[in-house]
Amino acid sequence: MMKDRIYSDLYSRIEAILEGETDQIANMANTASLIHEAFGFWWTGFYIVRGNQLVLGPFQGPVACTRIPFGKGVCGTAWQKKETVVVPDVEKFPGHIACSSLSRSEIVVPISSPDGDVKGVLDIDSKELSTFDETDRLWLEKIVGLLWY
Ligand code: SME
Repeated sequence: MMKDRIYSDLYSRIEAILEGETDQIANMANTASLIHEAFGFWWTGFYIVRGNQLVLGPFQGPVACTRIPFGKGVCGTAWQKKETVVVPDVEKFPGHIACSSLSRSEIVVPISSPDGDVKGVLDIDSKELSTFDETDRLWLEKIVGLLWY
């Protein structure tokens, strides 16, 4: 399947670019860029846990909300549940935080440290409905696994 091949190539490129670099901000920045360019998503970026909020981290795309409370929006929900949240239609997700009215579907993948603490989330938004499926979930979870140790 086409998407699988793009992800497989993307994973190798991210693995290579992160090799030898331990700075997490630098690594999140390049990861956001590579994912964004590979698929042409609307917004691709990271929110980082700071106390009881998520704070905007490295991203590609239009200006976004800077702070998201624990349990709020799709990002805060993924953090609270410690699991990936796939939203086929953001208008049907109660409490969705609309940073951009053009965003129609999204996926949020939590990033955990080896001891299971959520350190941040990867958030990807699409201008089309139902962009993300099980293939995206599996590969993006694998990709964020490269980011925190
Ligand atoms: N839609 C997100 C907010 C972040 S922006 O999409 C970049 C949410 O509800 O968590």
